[in-house]
Amino acid sequence: MKLTIIGAGYVGLVTAVCMAVIGHEICCVEKNQNKLKKLKKGEPTIYEPGLEEMLKEINKENKIIFTDDIKEGVFFSDYIFLCVGTPQGEDGHADLSQVEETVREMSKYIDKYKLIIEKSTVPVNTHKWVERTIKRYIKNKANFEIASNPEFLREGTAINDFLNPDRIVIGINTNKAKKIMEQIYLPFKENNIPIIYTSIPSAEIIKHSSNSFLALKISFINMISDLCEKAGADIEEVANGIGLDSRIGNQFLKAGIGYGGSCFPKDVKAFIRIAEYYGVNFSLLKEVERINKSRIKKIIDLIYNVLWIGKNKTIAVWGLSFKPDTDDIREAPSIKIVKELLEKDVNLKLYDPKAMENFKKVFCENERIKYFKNKYEVLENADVLIILTEWEEFRNIEYSKLKEKMKFPIIIDGRNMFNKKEMQNREIEYYSIGR
Ligand code: UDX
Repeated sequence: MKLTIIGAGYVGLVTAVCMAVIGHEICCVEKNQNKLKKLKKGEPTIYEPGLEEMLKEINKENKIIFTDDIKEGVFFSDYIFLCVGTPQGEDGHADLSQVEETVREMSKYIDKYKLIIEKSTVPVNTHKWVERTIKRYIKNKANFEIASNPEFLREGTAINDFLNPDRIVIGINTNKAKKIMEQIYLPFKENNIPIIYTSIPSAEIIKHSSNSFLALKISFINMISDLCEKAGADIEEVANGIGLDSRIGNQFLKAGIGYGGSCFPKDVKAFIRIAEYYGVNFSLLKEVERINKSRIKKIIDLIYNVLWIGKNKTIAVWGLSFKPDTDDIREAPSIKIVKELLEKDVNLKLYDPKAMENFKKVFCENERIKYFKNKYEVLENADVLIILTEWEEFRNIEYSKLKEKMKFPIIIDGRNMFNKKEMQNREIEYYSIGR
């Protein structure tokens, strides 16, 4: 089938490439000229493992066209996925201006039946606004309808998450829309991927609920880690013990310096605001946010418990991205932690396998903050090493090299990457979370 994808960001580009890989013909509309130039050359505009190879492949087979012309996109297909950004607006509401602008723009060219499919994360009942806007701006009496098809892509594993999802959620109003969506996702049905059809509001709420529940699990385990530290228990043992209960599950129970990224912080805040709009108090999610925010002070206090005085001390940092296997630093705990440390008078030496270019846009290099191209160089003359992102390459350390380079072999592990016993055996002064 022909499909139009509007927006080539983290969601749109992965959706466009994966839909092409499963056999659809794609027109991807991206208005940012820099991004468009790169995409036309087959270069991805985001770092996502496996994306570059797939994009080259489908470009070669001419199964995807990139354009900045929304008219071309609307005429290309009767099925249009909205994948534009819905960033956090002021006081936590989702900023839907890109959705509104796109819908306004595309309405002018709707001259026959179109199915407009919300894939961006939007507040429940956004579909009513989309419908109202199209009715206002549509030039002729063509009929159209809306569907909701939220994505559950994690950065760093987005392609796998798209091609092997736990479930596909589709919110529709009519049988016609259901038949179209069945056709679009036929390869998944043939692979026995669960596909559920709901009302549109339910599908819109499922997305915010999923992310909020995952964020809740993380804040829950971080709350328990605070008790473990005080009571002399080990959060890793506790997480393992509760995670073996199939009703709880062992994922998203990793204690650490908290969640970041472009989704959890934004979606939890937006969900709280959405509930307020409907007169419902999501106090539980306010607590999820508070616990997550408190992780920053916790790690700063730990650093100063170790350093005592910050003046003229040098802190080496491994990991800046909000999670491994991405260059994305949006809402990364590292941003708040580095900002706090810079306000004190420590010197910072930073290393991240992928995210340094993005990090430099926030903290440019100067005499107190320096970037290094590998994990050992950054240790030179450091008083302490703090680990903020659990990149795989940090797992194997040449301890002799670490000891030779650092003033003292002290590691503060914000992501509980290492075994406490092993660190003691190696005579590393090792601190971690909840243990
Ligand atoms: C998340 C959801 O997982 C995904 O389904 C949704 O579509 C988008 O938002 P993402 O933000 O890309 O995906 O990454 P995720 O792997 O969920 O991690 C989010 C944050 O939580 C990261 O900062 C990570 O370090 C943190 N995290 C994750 C924990 O602190 N502990 C955990 O156990 C898991």
